[in-house]
Amino acid sequence: MSSQPRDPAQSEIHATFEGDPIRCAPGASVAAALIATGKRGWRETRSGASRGLFCGIGVCFDCLVEIDGESGQRSCMVPLKEGMDVRGATGPGGDAEATGSATELDAEGGA
Ligand code: FES
Repeated sequence: MSSQPRDPAQSEIHATFEGDPIRCAPGASVAAALIATGKRGWRETRSGASRGLFCGIGVCFDCLVEIDGESGQRSCMVPLKEGMDVRGATGPGGDAEATGSATELDAEGGA
């Protein structure tokens, strides 16, 4: 085991969210990188409610983002890769009502 301190710059993955830099340790999810950089909500429902990380295990679809132009990606399930261009989800894939989000149903008194 090495006693040398690690250089954080060499052990981080760098990407962008809406053009702003995000970063995390290798193997961490896009959602983890967003949370680590202080972002809590990264898309909105039709009603304007903010959504971000909820279940963290790929079940609720609250964390949808667009990654490198591909919409409807669950940010909690995708490891951040160097140079990724991450955007907030828009359109039908970014709408919790269209995906059956549990938190959206809870807010309406359902489920
Ligand atoms: S936070 Fe629930 S699917 Fe990603």
